[in-house]
Amino acid sequence: MSLLITGGTGYIGSHTVVELQTLVSEQTPSQDIIIVDDLSNSSTVVLDRVKQITNKTVTFIKADVCDYNAINAIFDQYDIDAVIHFAGHKAVGESNEKPLSYYHNNVSGTVTLLQVMAEHNVKKLVFSSSATVYGDNVSPLNESMPTSATNPYGQTKLMVEHILFDLAKSDSEWSIACLRYFNPIGAHSSGLIGENPNGIPNNLLPYVAQVAVGRLAQLQVFGDDYDTVDGTGVRDYIHVVDLAQGHVKALQNLDKISGCKAINLGTGNGTSVLEIVNTFKEISGQDIPYKIAPRRAGDLATVYANADLANELLGWQATRNLYTMIEDTWRWQSENPQGF
Ligand code: UD1
Repeated sequence: MSLLITGGTGYIGSHTVVELQTLVSEQTPSQDIIIVDDLSNSSTVVLDRVKQITNKTVTFIKADVCDYNAINAIFDQYDIDAVIHFAGHKAVGESNEKPLSYYHNNVSGTVTLLQVMAEHNVKKLVFSSSATVYGDNVSPLNESMPTSATNPYGQTKLMVEHILFDLAKSDSEWSIACLRYFNPIGAHSSGLIGENPNGIPNNLLPYVAQVAVGRLAQLQVFGDDYDTVDGTGVRDYIHVVDLAQGHVKALQNLDKISGCKAINLGTGNGTSVLEIVNTFKEISGQDIPYKIAPRRAGDLATVYANADLANELLGWQATRNLYTMIEDTWRWQSENPQGF
């Protein structure tokens, strides 16, 4: 039996492959892993690094999830019994500029994948969703709150969730976990894999890490007049390895999920931008120059999870604290200043 991982050379995908190859093989007979990725935002160097960590190989196929024939050929060739679907575009700003590219990749790509899965009678799926689907609900955010989106990226995550709920309603054989991520940061403790954004980072941690390592001059803190502990935005940062282990747990518990279930993967704790900057400074020993800038359009003051459902349904909870998250980010960034 094989497990297909779309977007498996990306940030969260690569960490999940590592956890699957270590945790799963300890507990259950190991499955072959097939990664499909179009390498639009990642590199094959990741595959060598994953092998260095796990001492195991994976099958890699360069393909776009929107390419029906390519995806169909993979399902014809391999005996796939479940899919973890990470492949997708993820930059909010870019999604405002190129909405069609986001709807095509994230929505059409997922529909294509689902069609091929259905045609091959593969009905187990773990999907990368996002806390962005909670819109402006007040934290702590739980899975029964109403959903909404404020930008094309968020719309694509929400649309795919709706598609998955409809699909599971139409055919009771589907088991689908929609994992709603909060803010993944950190890196594998080996320092061999980590987040490697193209161009100037949009997200806080890669930006701070690149300032600390001297690639960027100064951080802009988007707003210091929010109603929070120090006026800066508060988020639920989660270690990417905890997140990866959440995927392993979701996969192992898919049989218990009938239909489609949305599940938060967060810690339940909030941290402000300045708390991140100060902790990063302390751990790295580097100066992190910053200036206060206007609020970023679309940002909320405070976003954090109610993480109870993941614990109840999957027996999962995050275990790594902020210190470890930043220590691991710094190890990755300082040992790989230019990324992969
Ligand atoms: C962002 C997206 C979210 C997406 C997630 C993916 C927006 C509005 N939201 O979440 O939809 O799912 O990334 O990881 O873009 N900050 C600064 N300076 C910076 C960068 C960020 O002060 O240079 C602040 C932000 O204002 C925010 C916090 O840091 O308070 C976290 O920002 P970020 O890492 O971009 O994540 P989100 O905005 O939570």
